[in-house]
Amino acid sequence: MIVIPGTASQVLAKEVADELNAELAGITCKVFPDGELYLRIEGEVANEECVVVQSTPRPQNRNIFELLALLETLREGGAAKITAVVPYLAYARQDRSFTQGEAVTSRVLAKHISLNADEFVGINLHESTILDYFTIEAGEIDASPELGEYFRSMKLDDCVVIGPDRGALPMAERVAGRLGCEYDHLEKTRLGPGEVVVKPKNLNIQGRNALIVDDIIDSGGSMVEAIKMLKAQGAADIYVACVHPVATGSAISRLFAAGAREVVGTNTIPSQISFISVAPLIAGALE
Ligand code: R5P
Repeated sequence: MIVIPGTASQVLAKEVADELNAELAGITCKVFPDGELYLRIEGEVANEECVVVQSTPRPQNRNIFELLALLETLREGGAAKITAVVPYLAYARQDRSFTQGEAVTSRVLAKHISLNADEFVGINLHESTILDYFTIEAGEIDASPELGEYFRSMKLDDCVVIGPDRGALPMAERVAGRLGCEYDHLEKTRLGPGEVVVKPKNLNIQGRNALIVDDIIDSGGSMVEAIKMLKAQGAADIYVACVHPVATGSAISRLFAAGAREVVGTNTIPSQISFISVAPLIAGALE
């Protein structure tokens, strides 16, 4: 097996190759003065099983084009099997048409990956229904057990895992399963016109440590609101974790300023908080 490192996932690809005891291909990637890309996969790929590891965070369209170009080059080079591992799949939040005529950009991307890959592997897709847009074998890895393991090793006392909204509840449940603790999600209750209260749906958080988990931290806005609400409810220390640290602009600083004690994410996207590696999970899925 040969692992092909896309430029957005160079360290992760090396970790995956090490986990699999596989060859790591050399890549030449240059940008011409006008912004166009030059790409070359070094070495022979004919009749080889090839795995491209390329995430698609900012600049999304450039990283996507590189991914598609690598897949097409492997196909033309006669690779025996081509697997596209896309740790963070861009456009996943546009999983359907919300208004007539709107492009379903996640479907556009899935169809193009399907052109030259034989298999797709994603991680905590914003909506699993996106898998149906692929016309090849497509699967999804859940990284929440790794988040749970990270915090289990910290041995937090009396911890509650919280999803910032109902959508994050299944992830909170899975992380809590690793920690052996309770879990809940925040719920907004309307008390009257212009008057809402947001608090844990079932649990009393007073004096307890809280771990807030979500699939994505982008602007940090959802997490900041959750931190404020939990503090108002009397939580002790507040920890924040996500799978995909999109972390736009000052998102991480905003979380610390709001009162987070620690903020961590996985390396599906390289960032200042990517402390948890998903390489063992990817290798396990490929094996
Ligand atoms: C939304 O449904 C996602 O699960 C995240 O909660 C959201 O993308 C986070 O975005 P932000 O950090 O900008 O609030």
